[in-house]
Amino acid sequence: MSGYILAIDQGTTSTRSMIFDRDMRVVGLGQREFPQHFPASGWVEHEPEDIWQSVLETIRLALADAGLSAAAISAIGITNQRETTVVWDRKTGVALHRAVVWQDRRGTPICEFLKQRGLEPLFSERTGLLLDPYFSGTKLAWILDHVEGLRDRAERGEICFGTIDSFLIYRLTGHRRHVTDATNASRTLIYDIERNVWDDELLSILDIPRAMLPEVLDCAADFGVTDSALFGAEIPILGVAGDQQAAVIGNACFEPGMMKSTYGTGCFALLNTGTERVTSSNRLLTTIAYRLDGVTTYALEGSIFIAGAAVQWLRDELGFIKVASEVSALAQQADPNQRVYLVPAFTGLGAPYWDAEARGAIFGLTRGTGPAEFARAALESVAYQTFDLLEAMRHDWAGDTGQDKGQTVLRVDGGMVASDWTMQRLADILAAPVDRPVFLETTILGAAWLAASRAKIWPDRAGFAARWHRDRRFEPGMDDAARETAIDGWRDSVRRCLTRA
Ligand code: G3P
Repeated sequence: MSGYILAIDQGTTSTRSMIFDRDMRVVGLGQREFPQHFPASGWVEHEPEDIWQSVLETIRLALADAGLSAAAISAIGITNQRETTVVWDRKTGVALHRAVVWQDRRGTPICEFLKQRGLEPLFSERTGLLLDPYFSGTKLAWILDHVEGLRDRAERGEICFGTIDSFLIYRLTGHRRHVTDATNASRTLIYDIERNVWDDELLSILDIPRAMLPEVLDCAADFGVTDSALFGAEIPILGVAGDQQAAVIGNACFEPGMMKSTYGTGCFALLNTGTERVTSSNRLLTTIAYRLDGVTTYALEGSIFIAGAAVQWLRDELGFIKVASEVSALAQQADPNQRVYLVPAFTGLGAPYWDAEARGAIFGLTRGTGPAEFARAALESVAYQTFDLLEAMRHDWAGDTGQDKGQTVLRVDGGMVASDWTMQRLADILAAPVDRPVFLETTILGAAWLAASRAKIWPDRAGFAARWHRDRRFEPGMDDAARETAIDGWRDSVRRCLTRA
């Protein structure tokens, strides 16, 4: 029997493949972690070959887990860590540099140079992004500057650039398709999100040859078929989206005003603004939420670099917990009278501050501060950072008119949302309800839906949205005065970490 959907989530620290049946139930899973490389301060790299092997292995594991052969799979959906930059040889498919990961800060001097030339408004207007080393464009410029002869070979069309989705599709299709989707393109700093084209002016500023860029398709489209030598059958790849955008889809945030926030290593909040492109006055990003049937839906995005990673820090560096799941029990033992704030700017601060040079700090320590207060401060830092994003979004969304467009719905997902305590704290600090779905794997579900709806196996947008169910709504329960005091303390702590006013 066919009709099964294979979805691949190629993330920052691990790769997962999941097989869903026609009723959207999970029937097979494969998961693999792969090594991280930190060759210099602020640098983060992945070996593209490790990523590729992890994808092959997890697909085979998922098929075995489901007891299926590749012939039973009707379509593949791919979602991926965004911005991470790969260059490879068009003929051999072999990568020519390690992948430069989204967290990597090596593009900082390029960004500073472009800012000094007064170019940030141009980049923002075209791409919806900011001049921060987070995005692919300056990572690619750096690689072209540092690998000898690469730019000339790229000019001659011998080299391909792509985000992870693009690299995987190239390999999966036996080097037949060099493509990406609109959401991944929208994270590169060289894609005009309004005209939906690679932008020649930005390419020339960054000295990136156009010949190395992939073709950009809708999120549900024909991305090619897998080489039959890989899994024993040709499988069409019909859906692609960057992981945060896939979570918007998987959380069925299809209406303007709906918002999702994913708590993984970092936290990424995206507010669907519909076909209207909202420009932020608060240093949020404007990005493509999805492009379906040629229609672009936009989002405002706030990206925080450290969320779950703060819990990993408590576990791995401080040794306060053995496993991440212990953290909320520990946080609940904290002395409520201590006001300890952790600003987890371990790799700088993302939205809305964008201070690449800021570093983490902890404030309010007393003689009685111990692991429990650290744990609470780490979890609360996630809530406070989300608060900063929501505040910025509310202002941007209201626009010049200041008109409140009503309460936004916040749907959450990612590993941290399993903690009731953290979600309650989030609702309290936000003074807004927080909805947790029954099915928490929204990112991979979003990729599966793109492929399955294109294959006409799963319901359309409305039918899919109707099947989204809430596990629990967390209602805010903190009194206003206490909340304001808490937020003032957070603001004061952040201010003390910033390297510029
Ligand atoms: O923008 C970076 C983001 O896509 C990474 O997500 O889940 O792999 O940490 P994740």
